[in-house]
Amino acid sequence: MTLKFSCFVTGTDTGVGKTLVSTACLQALAHKGLKATGMKPVAAGTELIDGEWVNDDVEQLVAASSLALPRELTAPYVLREACAPHIAAALEQVSIDPSRLMQACQQISAYAEAVVVEGVGGFRVPLSQHFDTADLAAGLQLDVILVVGLRLGCLNHALLTAEAIAARGLKLAGWVANTIEPDMPHQQDNLRMLEQQLPAPLLGVLPRMTLPPAEMTALAAQSLRFDLLDTWPEPAL
Ligand SMILES: Nc1ncnc2c1ncn2[C@@H]1O[C@H](COP(=O)(O)OP(=O)(O)OP(=O)(O)O)[C@@H](O)[C@H]1O
Ligand SMILES: [Mg+2]
Repeated sequence: MTLKFSCFVTGTDTGVGKTLVSTACLQALAHKGLKATGMKPVAAGTELIDGEWVNDDVEQLVAASSLALPRELTAPYVLREACAPHIAAALEQVSIDPSRLMQACQQISAYAEAVVVEGVGGFRVPLSQHFDTADLAAGLQLDVILVVGLRLGCLNHALLTAEAIAARGLKLAGWVANTIEPDMPHQQDNLRMLEQQLPAPLLGVLPRMTLPPAEMTALAAQSLRFDLLDTWPEPAL
């Protein structure tokens, strides 16, 4: 199967809303009738639920995917401790093998029509001594969606990330502003500066929501303008 859409969702930091935007994107793709699958290349941090060690990001991505694929493909490395991935891996005597990640993505694209790869933390998180998440995005040649967590410092983080994406020869396809701190002073002025300086369309500004994750995803799927992405699939005729 040839992919009709693919992207890599990164963020200005960990905890800024990558999973929320990834699940929203998956849901929007599913609404278009596409077989869409989320992928979390490396997930760090598990909890025991019903006798099974699970990672929350992975579960949310699976729930938002319209095509279910084996976890070996969609979440090849699920590590126990919620810490930097190379450390979480070392704690389990695991080494993260880039070729396993690349192969998993390639296999997903054999079954899916669309794939959304959620990054890990920010754009340049080491997965091993010589391989980081930016290398993964570059190896897969994925367009990048950047989630900017609106808080003091986000201008620098967002612009540095945009530079790093370009330095890898990748395209920043769009960005999302996420209100992670509702009381941020001068939010509009920050937004205006980012709109002027980021070389990609703003897909939307997510408000701070007090809803369960699935409902936040549904709201974000409706409000974000994924259709502003150059590669967003055309409606089926
Ligand atoms: N706009 C929002 N309103 C309310 N809660 C939000 C919003 N955006 C994110 N959150 C919450 O903040 C937390 C972090 O969001 P999310 O998991 O999407 O971030 P992430 O970038 O994927 O984090 P990680 O680096 O751990 O993968 C989650 O509990 C999520 O439900
Ligand atoms: Mg996440």
